[in-house]
Order: sequence, then structure tokens, then C-alpha cells
Amino acid sequence: MFDAFQNIFATHSDTTMEITYYGHSSFMVKTNGKNILFDPFISPNPLASDIDVDALKPDFVLLSHGHIDHVEDAPRICKNAGSTAIGSWETMVWMEKQGVEKTHPMNIGGSWNFDFGNLKLVNAVHSSSMPDGSYGGNPTGFVVSNNEDCFYYAGDTALHMDMQLIPRRCNIKTAFLPIGSNFTMDVYDAIEAARMIHCNNIIGMHYDTFDYIKIDHSDALDAFTKAGIYLHLLNIGQTVNF
Ligand code: NI
Ligand code: MN
Repeated sequence: MFDAFQNIFATHSDTTMEITYYGHSSFMVKTNGKNILFDPFISPNPLASDIDVDALKPDFVLLSHGHIDHVEDAPRICKNAGSTAIGSWETMVWMEKQGVEKTHPMNIGGSWNFDFGNLKLVNAVHSSSMPDGSYGGNPTGFVVSNNEDCFYYAGDTALHMDMQLIPRRCNIKTAFLPIGSNFTMDVYDAIEAARMIHCNNIIGMHYDTFDYIKIDHSDALDAFTKAGIYLHLLNIGQTVNF
């Protein structure tokens, strides 16, 4: 009885954004009644071995850039679930070569109204090549906004001053920022990024998966706490609502 009641409540809780972590930089975000999966790298990640990739049924799969630790499971999931893939032109060309039928190519600075809301591609300072060695276009971040939510998914990026432009167009409620250093921002750069985008609710990503990006969780949490910003380090498989 109680479970049934909870389920009823869950299906009517569209006023919040639901986030599930699948390890590395991969999250499913439910917003505006649609499921958006970011940068799926699940089956090769030993930390995510409990996740059943074939059970994931996103409406959309968003790819920030072409590196294998962001796209590995994307063709499989899109083909399983009939999802629409979104990302740079070059990333979408690669997805089509893998047999993905529904793609929507975009580029930095452009936006489009999807049924989950408005999606804008923003700058990321990084590199991008596809797993087959082909050019991956420029790496990107994403800003998603609709009547309920506005969030920023930074992808792989260094700290950069263009982040200051993001809050001029919408109030970022939650941001997904890389914190693992070596390939991206570290914890202290991510704190600066949070200040630039005027957001105090940060979800950490791109840490612990490889030796190069292992972090001390309590140091990271302490640094954010001292800065007056919430940092969430989600367990793989964990779901949170904001
Ligand atoms: Ni990368
Ligand atoms: Mn990466």
C-alpha cells in the first residue's frame, strides 16, 4: 500500500528534476517528463558493473564530445531505446556510422527547443576525437532550461571565462562539473566555476574512474563547504531529486 502510494507520488513529482548517476560523467536527468542521458560510459567502467546498460531507456542521449569515456555505450543505448542522440555535428556523423538513426547535430552557441526544453551548446575548453580516430569537432557543454529547471552540464573542460556568460540567460539551479583534474578542472577550479555561474548546488563528475583522476572525497567536500557551495558526490546507481 505504501509502495503504491509512493509510486503514485513519484509519477506526479514533475516539479523536481530527478538525477541518477551511472558513474564517471554519466547521468540520467528526468526533467519536463523526459529522460536525458549524458555521456554514457558504463559497460567498460568496473565501478559501474551493477548498472544494466540495456535497461536504460532514455528519450535523448546527449554527448559532450567524442572521447571514448563519454560515448562508449551511446550507440548501443540509442539503438536499444530508439533515443535521439544530440551533440556536435562530427559526433553525430560518428553515431550515424554506428547505425544510430535519430540524431540532431548542433554546435557551440546554438540552441534548439526540444520537448524536454531548450538546449544550448556552450563552450568547453578540451579536445575531441572519436574512438575510431576521426575528428570529433569542438567539445561542448550543455545548458538545459524549461519551465521547471535550468541546469548546466559542463562536459570535460578547463575553467574558462566564458562560463560567466551562462547565468546572463538563465538562473542555473544545478550544475554538473568535472572535478578530477589531470584532464579537466580540479576541485578548486570547479569552485571558481560555481561562482562564475552563480550556482551553489554542484554535482561532481569525472573523478575516481581512472588512476589519473582519483580524488580524496573528504578534501573535496571540505573545500566546497568552506566556499559555501554544496557539492554532491553521488554513489553510482543513486537517484536524487532537486
Ligand atoms: Ni575528454
Ligand atoms: Mn573524459
